[in-house]
Amino acid sequence: MAYAPLPDSPAEYVVLHGRESSLVIECHADEGPLWRYWGPRLADGAGPALPLRASRPLPSFMLDHDQPLTVMPGLGVGWFGQSALLAHRAGRDFSLAFGRCRWHWVEPGRALWLEMHDDVARLQATLHLQLDGDSDVLRIRTELLNAGDAPLDVQWLAAATLPLPDSCTAVRSFAGQHMVEFLPQVDPLTRSTWRRENRRGRTSQDCFPGAVVTTTGATADTGLVYGAHLAWSGNHQQSIEWLHDGQFLWQLGEWLAPGEVRLAPGERLQTPEVVASLSTQGLNGLAAHFHAELRRRLSWPQGQMAPRPVHLNTWEALYFDHRLPELEALADAAADVGIERFVLDDGWFLGRHHDRAGLGDWWADPQKYPDGLAPLAQHVVSRGMQFGLWFEPEMVNPDSELHRAHPDWALQIDGRPMLTARNQLVLDISRREVSDYLFDKLDALLRSLPIAYIKWDHNRDLATAGGADGRPAWHAQVPAAYALMARLRQAHPALEIESCSGGGGRIDFGVLQHTHRVWTSDNIDALSRVDIQRGFLQFFPPEIMGAHIGTAPAHSTGRSQAMAFRGAVALPGHLGVELDVRHLDAHTRDELKGWITLYKQWREHLHRSRVWLGDAGDHVVWQMHGEPGGSDWLLLSYRTAPSTLRYAPAARLPMLDGSRRYRLRVVTPQALPAEALYNGSAAFFEALRTPQGVEMDGDWLRHAGLPLPRAKAETAFIVHLQAL
Ligand code: GLA
Repeated sequence: MAYAPLPDSPAEYVVLHGRESSLVIECHADEGPLWRYWGPRLADGAGPALPLRASRPLPSFMLDHDQPLTVMPGLGVGWFGQSALLAHRAGRDFSLAFGRCRWHWVEPGRALWLEMHDDVARLQATLHLQLDGDSDVLRIRTELLNAGDAPLDVQWLAAATLPLPDSCTAVRSFAGQHMVEFLPQVDPLTRSTWRRENRRGRTSQDCFPGAVVTTTGATADTGLVYGAHLAWSGNHQQSIEWLHDGQFLWQLGEWLAPGEVRLAPGERLQTPEVVASLSTQGLNGLAAHFHAELRRRLSWPQGQMAPRPVHLNTWEALYFDHRLPELEALADAAADVGIERFVLDDGWFLGRHHDRAGLGDWWADPQKYPDGLAPLAQHVVSRGMQFGLWFEPEMVNPDSELHRAHPDWALQIDGRPMLTARNQLVLDISRREVSDYLFDKLDALLRSLPIAYIKWDHNRDLATAGGADGRPAWHAQVPAAYALMARLRQAHPALEIESCSGGGGRIDFGVLQHTHRVWTSDNIDALSRVDIQRGFLQFFPPEIMGAHIGTAPAHSTGRSQAMAFRGAVALPGHLGVELDVRHLDAHTRDELKGWITLYKQWREHLHRSRVWLGDAGDHVVWQMHGEPGGSDWLLLSYRTAPSTLRYAPAARLPMLDGSRRYRLRVVTPQALPAEALYNGSAAFFEALRTPQGVEMDGDWLRHAGLPLPRAKAETAFIVHLQAL
């Protein structure tokens, strides 16, 4: 029996460099690798002169052997912070220490695995770590092997344990609920642990699986900020804990229910991936890293993104009231305003006349569609549009043929009431017969109809989520949903899928490996959308952001906004229209057409460039789309509330090149004179509307800023800046 760990074995350093960031891990053969550094880019060759312990005198009344933060800290052997693994074998093997470490470059300087063993608890952990040299995105996942001879109950396995420096002061995360996605929440970082947990069984609107940590003085465009996100569509938890050396420990992973993961001898547990990054250029710099990473991960049919087609979604136009002549007339009117994809939303399948019946019976309702969906689909296609169809595969209504035939297919717990939400239950899709049933039903429709697109909904939280074996079933639902999506895409490679979950309840990098668009929110009120979209853009790029022009008053809030504002707010996303285009007066219809035309002109630029968000103050926020050093820039600025100033503020545009001049012209859809948007009585704004526009110095725009017009609340101002 040793009374204290043996003296340190020699240190080796694993160093990874990005463009803006570096990462240093100190490895000793006999213990878990120590985190030394995750911060701004170090010069090549720069590293710690000494092993960490050599520079940390022991404080008083401490263990006689210093235990710094490792990449896989474990409870019970001298580490008093949050553990990366909480597990046991029937109450034993609870104390965990990973030593005997090996590491191996998968791609030198870029990707490696670190393998660690706990020979006492008989466990092996492997950390897979990769730093993208261009985007500075760090990808980490952890794999645990039960190398013992008895089952291991796992309560928690962090996907990643990240170090944050002591200069971190606040954490920005998102809360929310249905129709209030990406509600920003800023909490100070203190010695109290910061923690968010989600147990709703889907990504959720309430608690986003990720956050941004800011250091003192960081702004939208300057200063050091860190971000991390768990690529996972189920339960999750993250915590940030203060440590006694002043740094913080950030952990993210899947939240597991008691008894949910029990590893048999020889069995492995894989965590979801953590996608993390830092930027020395503030929140916008960080957003660019996440956008680049998501763009790299998205898997498009034919390997590349086609221009994002303008949608018409039938939901708020017709709800459950499907009648073929009406739908055909809607499709005609849609084609006339320039719609490119017609998405038939909820209401088309057996008995779906309201939200109390039908889910699970995925064939056309014979009353509404006596000849099936083919006549409508063909009509849509004949008008030059793609046809899309809504499903909610994981769900079943008690009032359905499916539930009557297979009541045991719904998640449930013996002796507990089956709790419905929106009158529906959740199917246990991890069961082969259930996923086969769903695959067969969807596949049959995809085979027989020209369906280019599926809107894949998931409209409730998971409760009483027990599987057939009576054990918790949250975890298994997630890979099962991914697998079903992948299977459908493999059978139908041209298919695109939208992830929806009562609006934005399933938006994450995990589901986005199988999908191509997200329905950002059921709230289409343009004013609400300004905030929702700005939160969204911190992690996700605009081309996957479902953004619809809705009706006025908005069904979700009762507020009304001019078409000009609705159009301008939806413009940068993946544009759609969700209103009854048959019943617009001629002027509004022309204006809508104008926004659609403008979108088609600008979508490639909007969807392939970088995005900067800014706040001019006085209730004016803006976003700029362009490439550093590029020649074309589009600025979209929104006034969300009446001005409190006599003179409007200016928008300072630090992304422009200070050594160039730019030609500025106001951008409006054809049918809309600029006067309808803002008061242009000053000469500058008059000149912006002329074909030659106004020439301005980049450096002036960077530091003094672009003058903004006086404008009423809920108006937009869009400017094209072209480098000369
Ligand atoms: C959810 C979606 C909506 C619509 C309805 C249909 O609420 O977010 O867009 O598809 O379901 O029931």
